[in-house]
Amino acid sequence: MSKNAYLPYYKTAEGAYVRSMEQYREMHKKSIELPAQFWSEIAVQFHWETPYDVDNFCSYNFDVTRGPVKVKWMEGATTNVCYNLLDKNVRNGMGDKVAFYWEGNDPEDYSKITYKKLLEEVCRFANVLKSKGIVKGDRVAIYMPMTLEIVITMLACARIGAVHSIVFAGFSSDSLAERMADCKCKVLVTADSVYRGDKLLNIKSLCDIAMDKAKNFGHEIPTCIVVRHLPRLYRSMNTTNGTNGSDSDTIDLHSDVPWTDGRDCWWHDEMDDVEPACYPVWVSAEDPLFMLYTSGSTGKPKGVLHTTGGYLIYAATTFKYVFDYHPGDVYWCTADIGWITGHSYVVYGPLANGASSVIFEGTPFYPDNGRYWSIIEKYKVSQFYTAPTAIRALMKFGEEPVKKYNLDTLKVLGSVGEPINPEAWLWYYKHIGKERCSIADTFWQTETGGHVITPLPGCTPMKPGSATFPFFGVNPILLDESGKEIKGVGEGYLVFNKPWPGMMRTLFGNHERYQSVYFSKFPGYYCTGDGARRDEDGYLWVTGRVDDMLNVSGHLMSTAEVESVLTEHPDVSEAAVVSRPHSIKGECLYCFVTPNNGIPFTPKLSSELVKKVRETIGPFAMPDVIQHAPGLPKTRSGKIMRRVLRKVAVNDRDVGDISTLADEHIVEELFNNRPEKT
Ligand code: PRX
Repeated sequence: MSKNAYLPYYKTAEGAYVRSMEQYREMHKKSIELPAQFWSEIAVQFHWETPYDVDNFCSYNFDVTRGPVKVKWMEGATTNVCYNLLDKNVRNGMGDKVAFYWEGNDPEDYSKITYKKLLEEVCRFANVLKSKGIVKGDRVAIYMPMTLEIVITMLACARIGAVHSIVFAGFSSDSLAERMADCKCKVLVTADSVYRGDKLLNIKSLCDIAMDKAKNFGHEIPTCIVVRHLPRLYRSMNTTNGTNGSDSDTIDLHSDVPWTDGRDCWWHDEMDDVEPACYPVWVSAEDPLFMLYTSGSTGKPKGVLHTTGGYLIYAATTFKYVFDYHPGDVYWCTADIGWITGHSYVVYGPLANGASSVIFEGTPFYPDNGRYWSIIEKYKVSQFYTAPTAIRALMKFGEEPVKKYNLDTLKVLGSVGEPINPEAWLWYYKHIGKERCSIADTFWQTETGGHVITPLPGCTPMKPGSATFPFFGVNPILLDESGKEIKGVGEGYLVFNKPWPGMMRTLFGNHERYQSVYFSKFPGYYCTGDGARRDEDGYLWVTGRVDDMLNVSGHLMSTAEVESVLTEHPDVSEAAVVSRPHSIKGECLYCFVTPNNGIPFTPKLSSELVKKVRETIGPFAMPDVIQHAPGLPKTRSGKIMRRVLRKVAVNDRDVGDISTLADEHIVEELFNNRPEKT
């Protein structure tokens, strides 16, 4: 083992599930060689209404040249995810255990919910959905802040076999409209408004615009259920500020919130007189559980579809081992439920393990920069899971805000969403983990459903910036451009040659695209779209996207998506977007824009373009730089040479061979045109 590896926390915490690399390797070997045996021994902990057949546990085809790609686990078995997460735990005597501690944006706003109460609420809302005509297989769109109601809605869907399709509540009305129309949802569940920091966001107004826009795509949403979240917040804002004496109960909600009678209804009205019991619908292991859109490199978002049985056992198993969760621990994942991390590691994984977790609605900076650390102290958090972008943003404030709080309960610190740079890793390790916690740098994707490359806290010696080794059932392979496997030390395309239970099954309504995006580059392999390097100790280092995707603060988006927004502007002729390294966001958007003939490039045009991207995609997609490009560096066949643009973005004149460009002079012009302070 190389000198610079950090030892995991098992030196001080003896009870880890996997305590040595030897044990890990043995378990991993079994999971690859005898997957049915490995996973069926795990599946047995869950309830299957119709049992699975160990002899027909998994079937798959990854090779497009041999027929359609398919992945199936436990086909023929039936179960219900909600039943396994709630009823099973309640039956096992955990009814009074806290499932979630809810911490609001304002520190004065908090509550908690037990497994028993969560089950009742879920059953109630399942009955509400049924009363709206929702049946097995129907899609339910969700656009909500981090409240307990979002969890209740997800599990209510699972209970009746409906498919939830959550759209992160930071997306614009255009993005929401496009996604709702694509999945043809019958219901949209949302909230009136939410505070993020001291900013009030009118979510329902945005949903109204989106529901109108969805009509332009030919889809009308018949029902919209609205959680009354605002009065809770008004109450707390008043308490904190001590200025506004108005009583929240006197707010006229109907006049404050845009409303369409016949379509819109309040959550609390609907929940008032429904039964707190609802028999679960037993669904097939391969029936869909949820879909979640992720950016595609051609621009149109892809509806990643996850199914029931495999996702359940995979989310549960990764959660247990990667966070080394033990009964009594309090776990906290800061990710928004609107992303896959929130699905698998705020909701499904923790509840499948009967865990107690924190759900946090606010931001790390409100009311001050110590908010995360104060929450860890308040709930005695033992496993904390966040993103490198948050760590980098908090590092800026130094150790003072951290020192005010007791973080002694921490055991495992997770990282997700993008490669973590060693500087941020070390800060996390030293100042948050006090050099005694394990860091789990978890590499995975919306498509993989759960962690695929990750250290295990009790056994894997860590190297800052490396996601280390594969999780059980995952067989990572590096391929060169010609599809030849790179064994040993080297760098290449990160692919997998076998399915694990939690991987996606298709893209909603578009199996062709699923095959062409993920399985056509190297027949026989699932292609992640990321590059990776294997070092002399066998450690994997994910180096980032190899396609035209950008990762801004852990949010994945495509260059095509942003370019199409820019070129929609009437004054823009052409646009090309590349990523540029950013000290907090990881990457940021650097856009090259060519105005139409005769149109000058002005600061006004530039700010209109920034605003347009923000409004069309969402605030997280806001470009950092818009540069005037009198022309773009194109090859004679018309392909934009993005590597040259990436060099211009960082002002590195070492552009390499540009002899294939139609007009080499444009490169010099672009360097000269760089906006000054960037
Ligand atoms: O490029 C990889 C990066 O995020 C991509 C997946 O994004 P998304 O589907 O939005 O899911 C994010 C949360 C799982 C990957 O293709 N990525 C994610 N985690 C890591 C990472 N890159 C390096 N190291 C990681 N730990």
